[in-house]
Amino acid sequence: MTKMEFDRHRRLRQSASIRKMVRETKLDQDDFIYPIFVKEAGSEKTEVSSMPGVYQWPLTEVLQEVEEIVNLGIPSVILFGLPIEKDAVGSSAFHDHGIVQEATRIIKEAYPELTVIADTCLCQFTDHGHCGVIKGNDIDNDPSLQILAQTAISQAKAGADIIAPSNMMDGFVAVIRQGLDEAGFEHVPVMAYSVKYASAFYGPFRDAAHGAPSFGDRKTYQMDPANREEALREAQSDLNEGADFLIVKPALSYLDIIREVKDFSGVPLVAYNVSGEYAMVKAAALNGWINEREVVLEKLLSMKRAGADLILTYHAKDAVKWMKQSIEKGDQ
Ligand code: PBG
Repeated sequence: MTKMEFDRHRRLRQSASIRKMVRETKLDQDDFIYPIFVKEAGSEKTEVSSMPGVYQWPLTEVLQEVEEIVNLGIPSVILFGLPIEKDAVGSSAFHDHGIVQEATRIIKEAYPELTVIADTCLCQFTDHGHCGVIKGNDIDNDPSLQILAQTAISQAKAGADIIAPSNMMDGFVAVIRQGLDEAGFEHVPVMAYSVKYASAFYGPFRDAAHGAPSFGDRKTYQMDPANREEALREAQSDLNEGADFLIVKPALSYLDIIREVKDFSGVPLVAYNVSGEYAMVKAAALNGWINEREVVLEKLLSMKRAGADLILTYHAKDAVKWMKQSIEKGDQ
């Protein structure tokens, strides 16, 4: 019988050792950014019901959480604030003693080496829950920009290492960059939520951060999930305006966008593995329907394979624990 011609891909899969040698993508604990919700009210941590394992932390307790993150070797956190006072323009977002500013000071004092990223948005701080100021039924772009710049400056003053504006107003990177520079914070990078879709996957976050809009939706400023060319235009604008990192959000349903933005931008790209993506895995795992460890590590790996340099994820602490166990057990 003549030998048939075909490729033998299985040669490179035959042993754990060879599989390791040819593995193209690896997760690393340095890739992770862990989100922390800090709240002004109350003195005890509260679990977010739609996000098991995720808590809102009062300032008096938050260092417990931070200590665990530091001990695991996760290099950075992003802070989301829950203020007591809300008003039409989100004044508590740019107050020098606002919740994010105070949390930043406490965390940086205890752990100066940890990178603290401040989420810069107004929706948790406005009484209408939108990410900018309101005129009639509209979200008014340009007047919102000054407030965002003021917020970013007060966060940088409190010691935030990176500013992460998530509001999706046009020109937000330009105005924030200029504001930071003029206030003497030229060295503080901007990690822009450049490609942020109007996604149903943010539901649990809105429970966690009390940030649901009281009227309408976010579709006039967040992107239509159907669009990819527009994602490239958004990313290009933010690069032109001085963004140092780009974020694509959500992650899992947008892996194609992560790849495209990474390929054309040439700057560090962050995948935001959002609350709804976390909640779905948690719900299935709690029912015993999936293997949580395997599913989480596979989906985080898929974000890196798609081109993410960094992953902002509520799974970060678990993922790092599992990665350490795998190394000890020699799993592959
Ligand atoms: C606020 C903000 C949101 C998220 C991060 N920052 C919610 C929203 O835009 O409605 C969502 C994060 C998540 O779902 O994990 N602008």
